[in-house]
Amino acid sequence: MIEFNDVSFQYNQKDVAVKDLSFKVNDHEWLSIIGHNGSGKSTIAKLLVGLLEPSKGSISIDGVEINENNISTIRRKVGIVFQNPDNQFVGYNVKYDIAFGLENHQVPREEMNKLIDEYTKKVDMNEYLSREPQTLSGGQKQRVAIAGILALNSDIIILDEATSMLDPQGTKEIIEIIEELHNNYNKTIITITHDLNLASKSDNILVMKEGHSVLFGTPDEIFERRDILLSSNLDMPFGLRAAFLAKENEKLKNNKELIDTIWEYHLKK
Ligand SMILES: Nc1ncnc2c1ncn2[C@@H]1O[C@H](COP(=O)(O)OP(=O)(O)OP(=O)(O)O)[C@@H](O)[C@H]1O
Ligand SMILES: [Mg+2]
Repeated sequence: MIEFNDVSFQYNQKDVAVKDLSFKVNDHEWLSIIGHNGSGKSTIAKLLVGLLEPSKGSISIDGVEINENNISTIRRKVGIVFQNPDNQFVGYNVKYDIAFGLENHQVPREEMNKLIDEYTKKVDMNEYLSREPQTLSGGQKQRVAIAGILALNSDIIILDEATSMLDPQGTKEIIEIIEELHNNYNKTIITITHDLNLASKSDNILVMKEGHSVLFGTPDEIFERRDILLSSNLDMPFGLRAAFLAKENEKLKNNKELIDTIWEYHLKK
């Protein structure tokens, strides 16, 4: 279980990036964190892996408060795909890059090759094992970073905008992998995302605005609060919005009228 207890963090004296934040993620739960640019989402992820230390409050994982002494144990439990995949690579090629993470986890060499093979196939990057990371496209880098995290088999997986550079097909594939990790492998998952469709699949959603938590609840509960979402620069996922409008406007005679209504609604926002 992950617990944030009244956590605040500031990068400098003036601006507070995260303010008085408390939330829980139970084992095997999937939480999505949504919010406008600069609302504090990546800061939460960095706090969770101990890259940043709270200015106030505490963070615990499995009942143990994160501190300097146990940070390496925590890092073994938590796998993270960072928002900018360029910051993630250490190896001179894709294979070595994934191997490096596994080596840190003391995985035997033979097992390592098997895992690298299995997970690069899963994200469709098996043909790129000898490629230098900097020669890959943004989406390919994200796929490699995801393969590396999957291979580590951590109990907790954090994905910070891990599908932001993927095309629709790539996004769909990664969402399916996340659902599989959640449903079949019992992982505890945190997805940080601007993709409300992805967020709608998680168990709970935390909505951030200017470093504060403004809503926490199930997707059904969250997407009902359109007022708060709009004032946080967010909205309902498109599919839900269309369904909602169709239901509210039962008198609509055909698809064209529905599309016009959605368009009008969109412009009014
Ligand atoms: N290294 C840093 N030094 C100073 N300020 C920072 C640093 N990183 C982030 N900030 C500030 O902290 C606040 C929260 O940033 P954070 O990266 O957590 O936002 P975010 O919600 O992840 O945004 P995005 O959706 O753009 O990824 C922002 O105001 C940002 O400018
Ligand atoms: Mg971010």
